[in-house]
Amino acid sequence: AQFTSDRLLLFGATGDLSRRMLLPSLCALDAEGLLDPKIEIIGTARSELDDAEFRNFARASLEQFLPADRRGGMARFLNRLSYQTLDANQMEGFNALAAKVGEPKDGLSIFLSTAPSLFEPTIRGLQASGLAGENVRIGLEKPLGIDLASSKVINDAVARAFPEDRIFRIDHYLGKETVQNLLALRFANLMFEPLWNAAHIDHVQITVAETVGLESRVAYYDDSGALRDMVQNHMLQLLALVAMEPPVSYDATSVRDEKVKILRSLRKVAANETVTGQYRAGAIGGQAVPGYDDELGKDSNTETFVAIKAHIDNWRWQGVPFYLRTGKRLPKRTTEIVVQFRDVPHSIFHGRGAKTVPNRLVIGIQPSENITLSLMAKVPGLDRNGFGLRSIPLAITMPDAFAGPQRRIAYERLLLDLIEGEQTLFVRRDEVEAQWDWIDAIRAEWEEQAQEPKTYTAGSWGPSAAIALAERDGVTWHE
Ligand code: BG6
Repeated sequence: AQFTSDRLLLFGATGDLSRRMLLPSLCALDAEGLLDPKIEIIGTARSELDDAEFRNFARASLEQFLPADRRGGMARFLNRLSYQTLDANQMEGFNALAAKVGEPKDGLSIFLSTAPSLFEPTIRGLQASGLAGENVRIGLEKPLGIDLASSKVINDAVARAFPEDRIFRIDHYLGKETVQNLLALRFANLMFEPLWNAAHIDHVQITVAETVGLESRVAYYDDSGALRDMVQNHMLQLLALVAMEPPVSYDATSVRDEKVKILRSLRKVAANETVTGQYRAGAIGGQAVPGYDDELGKDSNTETFVAIKAHIDNWRWQGVPFYLRTGKRLPKRTTEIVVQFRDVPHSIFHGRGAKTVPNRLVIGIQPSENITLSLMAKVPGLDRNGFGLRSIPLAITMPDAFAGPQRRIAYERLLLDLIEGEQTLFVRRDEVEAQWDWIDAIRAEWEEQAQEPKTYTAGSWGPSAAIALAERDGVTWHE
């Protein structure tokens, strides 16, 4: 860390992310003694609030979104908060903010969770009011653009005020413990890495399934769609962590150098290697839910589901497909990574009629945090043929392995790292741009082919074409 901060500015402080994630995370950090006693947190937004009203807003958010046993330091935390009304297009708010910030002794961290259209004016306002100096760093919430060109405009605007080593682009999946654990699994154990390649792995599946629909994000989601909302960022980060070469060390430069190499190795996807879908009315967990069009209140071509067969063109992964799928209104909320190994080269049990089932490693990211390795074992007993085989799970449940850890909000890690200047879990500019580059090509293909999303019933695993996408390679999605 180059410097810690004694001021934190939250732009968009009255927004949904702030209410659900940022304020609860900061309060949780405070309760655990992880916030320096001198840190002051200043919220800004357009609403006309005074400090007391903002504190009330924060208290209500904490009571709703932070479990009671994590609210120990709430009174102290609320005392750190103050508020400045600010319109990003007008200087007066910035000047008043600068006066409030004063001279931070150690440094200032700024977190922008506003509409991306406000990024540019906000950065200009910060610069003009002297809030973009050398001891200031800036965190940016998604979406960082809607394609490569628009993400470059945002990145250029930020780069005019801040050097890359003070820009913290959020992908909240990187803040999840189980996502970081991928690195431990791969690089703190000897036994996986020698097998982690095309010679021993048949394919990889990454599923990010959600049961929620549009929620309250109508305008944003309908302009975005599943590919840009989930694949461009979260799923490509998961893919990069699974596929990358061992970094030199666990530091921001080394880890991100390896991730970007994978992102740049992604092959342009062919038209028949993607399937898009949009949900129709159905039921989830016995509850009837409306279709996307009904939720939206109009017709739309936006995909709420996407499945992709991806390829990584490098030595390690030649010929190993990575099947990705994500969607809204699927049967259950689950994020998991399946690493399917190849079969043994020769089975000595074949003559006895016993079949081997290739090993499989399933990494549960959420909601269950577990690691399951399927192994072949002899079925105990006096089998007629002398030998029965069955695949059995070797399973670790993370909450059982570690006594009493709390389920953390991903933003706890990320806000702490922002405040302390630790960049490893933030996305570098070249990564975002490589991600968009690959996504843009997929969207261009869809447009060229005039591909429209196929329908699927809410509560199913997406359009049948998504199942066929894997099945024609003899692969079944893991459920
Ligand atoms: C966000 C997307 O980035 O991630 C949402 O915009 C999605 O559409 C969310 O619901 C999923 O996050 P998590 O942490 O619940 O898996």
